[in-house]
Amino acid sequence: MICIKFLGVTKILAIESSCDDTSASVIENGTVLSNETMGQLIHQTYGGVVPELASRQHHINIIPTVQAALDKSGTQLSELSAIAYTKGPGLVGSLLVGVTFAKTLAKSLDIPSIAVNHLHAHIFSHFAEDPKPNFPFLCLTVSGGHTQIVKVNSYTDLEVLGSTLDDAAGEAFDKIGKMLGLPYPAGPIIDNLAQQGQPTIRFSEPEVKDYNFSFSGLKTSVLYHLRHHLENDPQYIQKHLNDICASVQNIIVNTLIKKLVKAAEDTGIKEIGIAGGVSANSLLRKRVEALSYEYDWNLYIPAFQYCTDNAGMIAVLAYQQYLAKDFAPIDDVPSPKLGF
Ligand code: KG4
Ligand code: ZN
Repeated sequence: MICIKFLGVTKILAIESSCDDTSASVIENGTVLSNETMGQLIHQTYGGVVPELASRQHHINIIPTVQAALDKSGTQLSELSAIAYTKGPGLVGSLLVGVTFAKTLAKSLDIPSIAVNHLHAHIFSHFAEDPKPNFPFLCLTVSGGHTQIVKVNSYTDLEVLGSTLDDAAGEAFDKIGKMLGLPYPAGPIIDNLAQQGQPTIRFSEPEVKDYNFSFSGLKTSVLYHLRHHLENDPQYIQKHLNDICASVQNIIVNTLIKKLVKAAEDTGIKEIGIAGGVSANSLLRKRVEALSYEYDWNLYIPAFQYCTDNAGMIAVLAYQQYLAKDFAPIDDVPSPKLGF
């Protein structure tokens, strides 16, 4: 049998398992052929991801997810040139499943493995489909674990302009949702409820220097507000849920937008992207779209499947690392606190 690897075709299998989504993707010469993701409903009632349950669920999901990604892309294992995995940051038990699976498969096929930084990959989710941003571009990454503004000069030259000093934007949505009795993840539910509400409640707005963010004060402000009103009216949340959600969402989005505009004005960059799970938020999308007309930005928002945690974004970066021969040693281990 002629191996396609020798005909100038590079196919890489990428695996993402940093939190509660098990995802696998096949990329061919930089084009994403498949991106299959299995979520974990088991965490809904706990108000957040339970690490032990997440890693067990990855064990169950990883083989069917990888098989689905191979099938959808019409790929045989023998065609693969490398296997990529998320090295970190993330939950150690969850990462360990993906890293061990990827390295074992790579070893058995006698091909290299590639370790990818999850934070970098979120930024390069913009390259999973067309149109792709031109370098340099600014990326606002907003997810459950991260909130950053990054100046992206090239695939390997990334400058963090600002990040959250405490909670991430998605974490703020989820933790406030928990206070409101909403299941995890609360971000999309708050987004939905907010559409029937008005942002009439003035929660304290975070004030942080430069391009940094802080959302823990907002969380406390919502907590005190709820405590105060629930004392007089135990039905307060049910009666005002839509307005509370609209007010919380409005503050989070305002904060994100303010810093993004400042970074764009200060750097003079007009290529602007948003990425990460919170970039699915309807108000955030509406506001950045309006700003793109006002400031003449070229705006990039990945399709939803590439916004939340997914292996497609890991595959995009893995292909660049493959070209640079940036392979992982066989004794590589997960790095839960991997920095930028
Ligand atoms: O990128 P992601 O899947 O995982 C992390 O890397 O954290 O992001 C998940 C986060 C959760 O906090 C979820 O509540 C939030 O994205 N999220 C949203 C929306 N959709 C997902 N937050 C606000 N509005 C949404 N529509
Ligand atoms: Zn993520």
